[in-house]
Amino acid sequence: MRLITEIKELRSEVAGWRDEGFSVGVVPTMGALHAGHMSLVQAGRGQNDRVVTTIFVNPTQFGENEDFDSYPNTRAADEARLKAAGVDVLFAPARSEIYPDGFSTRVIVDGLTDCLCGASRPGHFDGVTQVVCKLLNMAGADRAYFGEKDWQQLTVVRRMVRDLNIATEIVPVPTVRAPDGLALSSRNAYLSPEALAVAPRLAQALAEAAHDIRSGMAASGACAKATEAVLETGFAKVDYLECRTADGLETVEKPDTACRVFAAAHLETARLIDNWPV
Ligand code: PAJ
Repeated sequence: MRLITEIKELRSEVAGWRDEGFSVGVVPTMGALHAGHMSLVQAGRGQNDRVVTTIFVNPTQFGENEDFDSYPNTRAADEARLKAAGVDVLFAPARSEIYPDGFSTRVIVDGLTDCLCGASRPGHFDGVTQVVCKLLNMAGADRAYFGEKDWQQLTVVRRMVRDLNIATEIVPVPTVRAPDGLALSSRNAYLSPEALAVAPRLAQALAEAAHDIRSGMAASGACAKATEAVLETGFAKVDYLECRTADGLETVEKPDTACRVFAAAHLETARLIDNWPV
């Protein structure tokens, strides 16, 4: 595995692969890798001749009081895992490489970014689309891999790629969970052993809400019930727990199309998100 920190080097490596007729996959991450990230890498490995993984903790997608400064960093372990998984290039640029002095361009997807995490983390998705647009341009890959765990992010990125005619196919990868149902997340590292015992309750509550809605309960009632259940088990705050359409993220009361229930909730210092199909 080759470690690259400069955009021009990444471009020239990928151009060399292209000359040889190789297909290329890219897996954007912020590091602190776990089995969820690695399932994206495996999907990329299986579908392409060459795989690039990026590690960049993107400052523009963090709010002022969020965890940018304390975001977990497990760089040595990340490199070992990526190497063992057969990744060809790790692209890990410095902040100044991505955002040089005078950087002033924003990428904003309207509508899809107003709700859910967009409402509770204003500006978050503007930072995500800004950096993902740049990473996709730099990598020039055939395919890019995104986890369904961050369903809204996946939806927003897909819309951006369609609207801006970026020539990379966005490939969704199912959420990887611990045996107790907890969606794997770099932020689970913030949780105490006691909180780790409570955290799976979020996924259980979503599964119950999805079941209630399938059984005919109105979505608002099912979500209110699930919110209560999450708060009762020890989560401090629920930012949202809502049923929305899978593609357009529109609110629904009686789903007649593909829908999911989405939640974000605070436990100790962590803000956990998850979603479940109805
Ligand atoms: P990060 O949180 O590091 O996640 C990188 C990718 O891994 C995302 O596509 C995310 O959905 C996926 N992922 C995380 N946990 C997962 C799980 N349990 N199962 C399956 N996939 C999972 O998301 C970001 O970084 C950033 O916003 C980024 C896209 C890199 C832009 O900065």
